[in-house]
Amino acid sequence: MKGRRTFLKIAITGAVAFFVFVWNKLTLQHLRTSSGKQHTFPFNKNKTVAFNGGFIVVTKPEIRVFSAHCTHLGCKIDKMQGDRLVCPCHGSEYDLEGKVLKGPAYRDLTEMKASISEDATTLTIEG
Ligand code: FES
Repeated sequence: MKGRRTFLKIAITGAVAFFVFVWNKLTLQHLRTSSGKQHTFPFNKNKTVAFNGGFIVVTKPEIRVFSAHCTHLGCKIDKMQGDRLVCPCHGSEYDLEGKVLKGPAYRDLTEMKASISEDATTLTIEG
């Protein structure tokens, strides 16, 4: 009887671990892949934070671009509260350098490669 219970505990633990592993792979895969496309947006260097489609453009203290997809489950971050980027789904918060300040997310925002046109009017984002 004791052996059967032990076997069931191990089997259930293994099944749960497998489910969590697969779920994590499926739900977070889009955060790790790059489409190879370029996205071009109007650029306003006077705006500290801009939400452009699936991207967050921060201009101070330096110009940086992050994916707007929350690293918890991928919801699109589209607002700020004070000086924090806040996920509308479960409340994760990030600073303007993309670092996690409050979970449930535990990974920082994904930084994107970006370049500004010579006349500083457009921003091109890789990805
Ligand atoms: S998806 Fe952003 S906190 Fe859960």
